[in-house]
Amino acid sequence: MKGYFIALEGIDGCGKSTQINHLSKWLPISGLMPKNAKLHITREPGGTLLGQSIRRLLLNSRQEESPEPLTELLLYAADRAQHINQFIKPLVNKGDWVISDRFSGSTTAYQGYGRGLDINLIQDLERIATGGLLPDITLFLNISIETSLKRREAKVNDRIESEGKEFLEKVLFGFSEISKENNWITIAAEAEPTKVNDVIEKKLFSLLKNN
Ligand code: TYD
Repeated sequence: MKGYFIALEGIDGCGKSTQINHLSKWLPISGLMPKNAKLHITREPGGTLLGQSIRRLLLNSRQEESPEPLTELLLYAADRAQHINQFIKPLVNKGDWVISDRFSGSTTAYQGYGRGLDINLIQDLERIATGGLLPDITLFLNISIETSLKRREAKVNDRIESEGKEFLEKVLFGFSEISKENNWITIAAEAEPTKVNDVIEKKLFSLLKNN
């Protein structure tokens, strides 16, 4: 039996890591997963060994080696192709469950809406990079720009996070557009983490209980 693939998306500071941490403990005891299925947690960029090197190039490159927007897009696509083929696909094919911290939606939101690269080009590239394997569901953790900036006040920003408010506004608009697609679920994520946990658990129950 095929496994299940969940992606979490949202702007920086939306609480993905906290929610994924919770799901990693709750899902295996929720009764929703088949008995012999294992749960794997991964992320983009950087879900494979090669991907970790690509992540460094993308997020922590020196100013003088920082990628152009098209190069950035191709690096995210390369990271994804490796991640899908080496990690996600083999696991889902053998019946395991995978949760990924970011996936294709981030490329459309950040490189498409944020950087202004052609959405059709991105979609073509996504088909090539993923071979058509998409998440069964994507949870979009929706927070405001103000919350995003506030939650990251004390943190050191990576190259993408340093882009500023206007860029972030475009990315958030991108996510809200993409979230109208099938298999996307929007979660109001302004509340404290335990309340957001509850909402996600209820959603997953109503979606998966008859699986
Ligand atoms: P993330 O790992 O969520 O950041 P952190 O671990 O610091 O919370 O994401 C790294 C950055 O990469 C984030 O700013 C969004 C960006 N990104 C893209 O621009 N396009 C993509 O396709 C992906 C997957 C991420």
